[in-house]
Amino acid sequence: MKKKEQLRPWLLLPAVVSSIVVALLSAASIGGGEVTYDGRSLVVDGQRKMLFSGSIHYPRSTPEMWGDLIGKAKQGGIDVIQTYVFWNLHEPQPGQYDFSGRNDLVRFIKEIQAQGLYACLRIGPFIESEWNYGGFPFWLHDVPGIVYRTNNEPFKFYMQNFTTKIVNLMKSESLFASQGGPIILSQIENEYQNVEKAFGSDGLLYVDWAAKMAVGLETGVPWVMCKQQDAPDPVINSCNGMRCGETFAGPNSPNKPSIWTEDWTSFYQVFGGEPYIRPEQDIAFHAALFIARLNGSYINYYMYHGGTNFGRTSSAYMITGYYDQAPLDEYGLLRQPKWGHLKDLHAAIKRCSGPLLYGNKSVISIGQLQEAYVFEEETGGCVAFLLNNDKRNAASVQFRNESFNLLPKSITILEDCKSEIFNTAAVASVNSTRIFMTNQVFDTAQWEEFAEPTPNYCESLLRSDVLLEQTNTTKDISDYLWYTFSFKPDSACTGPTLQVQSTAHVAHAFVNGTSISTAHGNHDAKSFKMDVPFEFSEEMTNISILSVMVGLPDSGAFLESRYSGLTQVGIQCSPDEPSYNLTNYSWGYQVGLLGEKLQIYLEENLNEVVWSEATSPNQSLIWYKTSFDAPKGDEPLVLNLSSMAKGEAWINGQSIGRYWVSFLMTEGQPSQSLYHVPRSFLNDGSEPNLLVLLEEIGGDPSQISLEIVSTSTSTYISPSSVK
Ligand SMILES: *[C@@H]1O[C@H](CO)[C@@H](O)[C@H](O)[C@H]1NC(C)=O
Ligand SMILES: *[C@@H]1O[C@H](CO)[C@@H](O)[C@H](O)[C@H]1NC(C)=O
Ligand SMILES: *[C@@H]1O[C@H](CO)[C@@H](O)[C@H](O)[C@H]1NC(C)=O
Ligand SMILES: *[C@@H]1O[C@H](CO)[C@@H](O)[C@H](O)[C@H]1NC(C)=O
Ligand SMILES: *[C@@H]1O[C@H](CO)[C@@H](O)[C@H](O)[C@H]1NC(C)=O
Ligand SMILES: *[C@@H]1O[C@H](CO)[C@@H](O)[C@H](O)[C@H]1NC(C)=O
Ligand SMILES: *[C@@H]1O[C@H](CO)[C@@H](O)[C@H](O)[C@H]1NC(C)=O
Ligand SMILES: *[C@@H]1O[C@H](CO)[C@@H](O)[C@H](O)[C@H]1NC(C)=O
Ligand SMILES: *[C@@H]1O[C@H](CO)[C@@H](O)[C@H](O)[C@H]1NC(C)=O
Ligand SMILES: *[C@@H]1O[C@H](CO)[C@@H](O)[C@H](O)[C@H]1NC(C)=O
Ligand SMILES: *[C@@H]1O[C@H](CO)[C@@H](O)[C@H](O)[C@H]1NC(C)=O
Ligand SMILES: *[C@@H]1O[C@H](CO)[C@@H](O)[C@H](O)[C@H]1NC(C)=O
Repeated sequence: MKKKEQLRPWLLLPAVVSSIVVALLSAASIGGGEVTYDGRSLVVDGQRKMLFSGSIHYPRSTPEMWGDLIGKAKQGGIDVIQTYVFWNLHEPQPGQYDFSGRNDLVRFIKEIQAQGLYACLRIGPFIESEWNYGGFPFWLHDVPGIVYRTNNEPFKFYMQNFTTKIVNLMKSESLFASQGGPIILSQIENEYQNVEKAFGSDGLLYVDWAAKMAVGLETGVPWVMCKQQDAPDPVINSCNGMRCGETFAGPNSPNKPSIWTEDWTSFYQVFGGEPYIRPEQDIAFHAALFIARLNGSYINYYMYHGGTNFGRTSSAYMITGYYDQAPLDEYGLLRQPKWGHLKDLHAAIKRCSGPLLYGNKSVISIGQLQEAYVFEEETGGCVAFLLNNDKRNAASVQFRNESFNLLPKSITILEDCKSEIFNTAAVASVNSTRIFMTNQVFDTAQWEEFAEPTPNYCESLLRSDVLLEQTNTTKDISDYLWYTFSFKPDSACTGPTLQVQSTAHVAHAFVNGTSISTAHGNHDAKSFKMDVPFEFSEEMTNISILSVMVGLPDSGAFLESRYSGLTQVGIQCSPDEPSYNLTNYSWGYQVGLLGEKLQIYLEENLNEVVWSEATSPNQSLIWYKTSFDAPKGDEPLVLNLSSMAKGEAWINGQSIGRYWVSFLMTEGQPSQSLYHVPRSFLNDGSEPNLLVLLEEIGGDPSQISLEIVSTSTSTYISPSSVK
């Protein structure tokens, strides 16, 4: 009998009863043992462990990709796969759960297990992660009296409820190491210290409650709180950042190990922002420094594979590709020499893990900016890290009567405290270049279009005398909220200007159904303005403003009370004529677009609207569709949307994410013009594929192309300066 079936009904029982039942079950399950820790490392099966870990988030790729990604991580010397758990995917409505497809957490953990790796489960359930609303389901917003992430009863109820649900699910599948499964570590909360002060004394109470609640779930494996220096015992405080060897104050008890939960391999990228490229030498240097200085025994690369923010899953202004600069790129291809250099680092550290985990440590000055960190075992095992902290100059040093030449800003690892086996600045791995080969341009495709209608005030069903907050009105079922009004000036109004202020992300203004202007904000600004001259006569004019969110915010305190949407609207006539403040006015609203409501991106709903042959390019607020044959093979594919401006794209009904090509970086290029099309979104065989686009501003679909992605590698001879 499957344990899963046995457990199902118990999940419906009150928490106390179900945890007793689960405890009985796990006691009866085979293999495994508690995972514990001491001042040096996690202790798994009675053994201290030197662990390299990589973040791979299951919903940011597809189940068809998971095996390959995990396999490449393993080949790269990764021992642990770390993932967040994405609450808003799993509990879209209170008590209604979804663990299907990309949300199949159990399948993902089992894939990790099948490849012989460990897993770290960061339940949160607040995760931030550049993920819509930091992972919170939007319905939390409507729970009466709720304040997120503090000592607030309604919040604590739902947080405990979801955390328990996930822990019980893992237990029911015997996935904790204590049950013989792969999960050796879990996380509760996430970087709470960043917001704790905002909650006063309730912050501290909440941290204590969260720790007790998590520990009370009796998983048999330790919990961490990252960026929480005062994490209560037995929860381990861990570090996030790029330089934890320099910034981490260390474990808050001599009995806890030094854990680095997020070693950022890059940084998130926003629309309008540049990609962040962190050199492999720098990643390797800081990883080695963390091990040398802090006795680090667990380093997780965030991200090891970033992947794709499909659909509307990314948070405010985030591009759709996520951490493309990670050791595995957005499509899962090896990014060289990053992947290989870290693999070499991992292999070198593993060869020395005996003295690192069991030796004593001494720190010896070997120069003004040079130090040796020596780990030595009674049994004779020894490893030394020779640190050259001089950014500019190489250094010649003496260590144990041998001379060593240290590259600038580098750490040299000496096996047996004698032989150099790795230098963080000397990259021996091959380079790779990504190649995009055009498979087809959609210029000969049959494009059809459907113009999204512009709603008017008089047709609106939802009305208010004030400007409504956007997210509470849409409940985040759509990026879009129409604000509409009808206007007739009391007296002459020549040269009118429409003035809009917004704390949403984009506004498109329409007069009598015709687009007059578009304006947008950016990731770092709190609001933006639109000032647009337009024409009208003394007749009643219909004005409709489409306000757009590009993801909800994912960070900071008091997420539940953020205000998004239009904040002020006015019409300014020429200086000697009156101006009109329309902030308090008769407003009509429409949540979402008609095409979204009818789901016209699904094959079965195409006929809900009348499509016509696409005519001229550069039209605003329009849907396009066509079909195409995909190339055979298994290389990754991307849609090149360079000729479009802003919107969303669907392949066979599945959203490949938001695109925003018209938001340029400072040097004039879009932040992202290529959008990943997972192979599994395509039809098998010769059946054509449906491509549907929603374009907000104006583009030319006939210039879209489908590209095949591959990499070329070239051998890289490591610099001879080593030794
Ligand atoms: C979680 O809440 C749901 C209702 O939303 C309830 O049915 C369930 O029993 C709760 N589970 C736990 C473990 O509290
Ligand atoms: C590292 O280990 C050494 C030797 O056991 C110990 O003396 C030192 O305090 C530890 N350092 C940190 C930061 O934990
Ligand atoms: C570390 O251990 C080695 C081998 O047992 C010993 O020779 C050395 O003195 C010890 N060093 C320190 C700093 O305790
Ligand atoms: C290093 O050299 C000094 C002097 O030449 C000698 O006394 C010492 O034993 C040597 N140490 C090692 C580890 O060989
Ligand atoms: C949010 O919308 C609900 C109706 O869905 C309303 O009852 C509530 O007052 C609104 N909250 C805020 C803060 O506007
Ligand atoms: C304004 O909207 C109303 C209601 O849809 C419509 O009857 C009217 O023709 C519109 N006016 C203009 C100028 O488009
Ligand atoms: C909107 O329609 C009204 C009434 O027909 C007209 O007077 C006005 O000029 C139109 N404005 C624009 C910008 O089309
Ligand atoms: C318009 O009215 C709103 C709401 O009363 C007010 O907050 C705002 O300051 C006014 N704007 C101008 C430009 O007077
Ligand atoms: C606009 O409406 C808001 C909310 O009802 C109210 O607080 C404010 O006083 C009004 N402002 C004006 C100028 O009427
Ligand atoms: C597209 O239309 C807008 C406004 O209608 C215009 O400003 C822009 O120049 C046009 N772009 C192209 C490429 O034709
Ligand atoms: C994407 O398409 C544009 C033309 O729209 C072209 O200039 C560009 O080279 C293409 N990019 C890639 C990577 O193929
Ligand atoms: C590999 O890339 C590095 C950094 O761009 C460059 O210096 C080196 O010449 C490249 N090696 C080869 C073999 O292409």
